[in-house]
Amino acid sequence: MQNERSRSRRWFLGLGAAWSAALVACQSKTASPPPAEPRALGAAVSPYGSRSKFEKTARYFNQNTKVPLEEASSRTPLHETYGIITPSSLHFERHHSGVPELDPATHTLTIHGLVGRPLVFSVDELKQLPSKSRIHFIECSGNSGGEWRGGSTESDVQRIHGLTSCSEWTGVPVSTLLRECGVDPKATWVLAEGADASKHDRSIPMKKMMDDAMVVYGQNGEPLRPEQGYPLRLLLPGWEGNSNVKWLRRLKVMNEPAMSREETSKYTDLMPDGSARQFTFELEAKSIITRPSGGDTLVAGAFCELTGIAWTGRGTIVSVEITTDAGATWAKAELQTPVLPIAHTRFRFPWKWDGKDTVMASRCTDSTGYTQPPLTELITVRGMNSQYHNNGIQAWKVASDGKITNGNRA
Ligand code: CO
Repeated sequence: MQNERSRSRRWFLGLGAAWSAALVACQSKTASPPPAEPRALGAAVSPYGSRSKFEKTARYFNQNTKVPLEEASSRTPLHETYGIITPSSLHFERHHSGVPELDPATHTLTIHGLVGRPLVFSVDELKQLPSKSRIHFIECSGNSGGEWRGGSTESDVQRIHGLTSCSEWTGVPVSTLLRECGVDPKATWVLAEGADASKHDRSIPMKKMMDDAMVVYGQNGEPLRPEQGYPLRLLLPGWEGNSNVKWLRRLKVMNEPAMSREETSKYTDLMPDGSARQFTFELEAKSIITRPSGGDTLVAGAFCELTGIAWTGRGTIVSVEITTDAGATWAKAELQTPVLPIAHTRFRFPWKWDGKDTVMASRCTDSTGYTQPPLTELITVRGMNSQYHNNGIQAWKVASDGKITNGNRA
């Protein structure tokens, strides 16, 4: 009877016979009734939710001193988040001059330049226009950049890769707004400018603006968080984080790029021959095993689900492969639905570590047929002058005592 029950439960979970021992162990642990709980009245309802006091997951901060570990960025704890949506409170932050406090009652978006009819929109006016909600990741072009020149063996997934997050964004297509203004046919670029103290700005090709760009005011079902651009940000699906201008106040329609500081001295990619790649907006396919990962310890012979995320700025993830033998063989991971374009995609792979030291890694392929390369291949082409746009394979080294460390230079 017991055997039959565990067999059917194994079938229900969709697991092979290999994991039966672990499941039977689970069942025997929970066989005795739980201890009696006190029946005191619980907490009252509250106007705005907060998490359990037992949960401590946080962005990349010193947890004891609450001091940020980096001056102008914080990182998503990818190893401690589930599914594909990043909680708004854990979305990574990156800004150049602090988070401005903007009142949505007075903040406006101005559209001017090469248009027939310059317009100023209030936040309320934008909210009355036909809206769209879309799930997309935003990744900083500097994410994983420290690995170009070696990284640290102690680094963990949050420190290395925590500058990517995924949300449901709600707003208005930029094409709707530009059509309202009557764009001059000569116009080819649009300068997007924020209302932060340093007026962060980027020139964006008109094609992207008319294709899928949005002015968003919603994030995960509520207004944007201040750190994400409250009350308005530009969303450019699949393009590097800094071009998704936060605290958006102005779109200037032009017939050439503005050549602003952020696209000349910053956010360009210096190549080995001394030339610089400019306007490298699109993010290429990338994946990482997030759990277990650097800092975790494996137990030999125990069931272990490898899980992580994959994403691409160019379409949809079509496959993720896993190696647990340092690249000798690769096997397909299961992709968890929904698999959405330009969104984090969750993958899972059942595994049992045999107790020998090894290297584990993931690599993904997107709907254009592009496969995530080893970091060494990227360095061969782009050299070591720039740290931007590292989408190379992340290797995790497993030592014979089960300890996992960053294996990118192992
Ligand atoms: Co770039």
